[in-house]
Amino acid sequence: MNSETKRRTLEDWPQQQLRGHKLEGSRYNSKEFFAQEWEHMWTKVWLLLGREEEMPNRGDWQREDVGPESFIMVRQEDASIRAYYNVCQHRGARLVNEPKGHVNRFVCPYHAWAWTIEGDLNFAQDSEDFPENPCGKLTLEEVRCESFAGFVWINMDPDCVPLKEFLGPVWEDWEGYGIEKWKRYFARTTTVPFNWKVIMDNFNESYHVPTVHRATGTAAEKARFLPGIDTDYKNTRFDLSDEGHNRMIMRGGHGGAGLESDGSIGEPLATDMRDWDLNPDEFTKRGEETREAIQEAKRRIGPERGYDHYANMADEQLTDALHYTLFPNFAVSVWSDGFHFLRARPHPSDPEQCIFDNWWYASQPEGETAPVRTNANVVERDAVVEHEVYEKGELDMGVTIEQDLAIMPGQQAGFASRAYKGAYLAGQESRLSRYHELIDDYIEGRRPLPKK
Ligand code: FES
Ligand SMILES: [Fe+2]
Repeated sequence: MNSETKRRTLEDWPQQQLRGHKLEGSRYNSKEFFAQEWEHMWTKVWLLLGREEEMPNRGDWQREDVGPESFIMVRQEDASIRAYYNVCQHRGARLVNEPKGHVNRFVCPYHAWAWTIEGDLNFAQDSEDFPENPCGKLTLEEVRCESFAGFVWINMDPDCVPLKEFLGPVWEDWEGYGIEKWKRYFARTTTVPFNWKVIMDNFNESYHVPTVHRATGTAAEKARFLPGIDTDYKNTRFDLSDEGHNRMIMRGGHGGAGLESDGSIGEPLATDMRDWDLNPDEFTKRGEETREAIQEAKRRIGPERGYDHYANMADEQLTDALHYTLFPNFAVSVWSDGFHFLRARPHPSDPEQCIFDNWWYASQPEGETAPVRTNANVVERDAVVEHEVYEKGELDMGVTIEQDLAIMPGQQAGFASRAYKGAYLAGQESRLSRYHELIDDYIEGRRPLPKK
């Protein structure tokens, strides 16, 4: 079949020579290191900030903060998006304080200077009282801004490489899904009491999975946590890109990982199978055959159900857990129909806190009406899910992520102990090393630069 021969495959990424890293505790709690990261890394790297669909019309804007800085992204007349520091050039007031909105001009709340969405000052009160009229002279400070997968990224460094170059092979891997058309079904943000790298380290390894996500209770309850995912590192593909991004592929849709004691297929893999017209009972004691059966069913039935994106995807992308960590602060599990977005933003001033975001997007097959199962809940397909920012205890992030978060304050405390001598890493934790080496590269002045 023609479509078979053209089918996308996921190539291995190049081998990386790791230098080895001690991961000293001071990296997570010292103000000096925190300041170096800010100065040399955060201000020089592409950062995922916004979502295109939240700014559909000219003048729609979205605000997002990273560390001590705040940014405004705003839709332009020509449909592009530009991004500015959220700072008035009169005397430094924040131009906007709400998370999003719509303007014709940004009018500063302090002395009413008005800035066009193109970033030009076009009104200053008592303009004749200035040595020179600031209108037409001053502009908002702009940052580089590009979009990919429906997300808006910014870079504070005017000399940065283009986003596509920065993302390297991730760009190609994600193109097939059509993520730019996917819709948000879960969006929560909270401040947590540990360094941002504690979160990224955690999502850079699955070594913790059998312990932290160890399921208790019945077999059905156990299967809830990592249903049908083969988490054994020996069966997992690990890739480290030249650009510093990591990929891990664990086989999913895999009955061997969630079999009941009698060899039958457990939940929710069994439900996933029924969703694709497969009878799990026929796979009792044949759990290892479920993955391919689901892939085949999705290829066969997907198009008629509106799942057009399957045609652009590799077999692994139909069933497996593809987990990416994009340097520096963005971890994503991409499923055939779900994009689980985890981001850790640095705190404005405290190395021992960070801002944690947990969002879920789902594909939008035409005609599909079934509710969406996110990492944390089940949501009606036509629901409009607003971004919720909460204080500890008011809401939660879903069972699995809460299990991760529960470990972290203790680890942050351990970093401050006189007894902690640095990490002792397993091979499957190489992605941590790589990440920390990249941070050091930036701090020591080795960062990607545009080709001359
Ligand atoms: S600080 Fe913005 S108008 Fe004065
Ligand atoms: Fe985890």
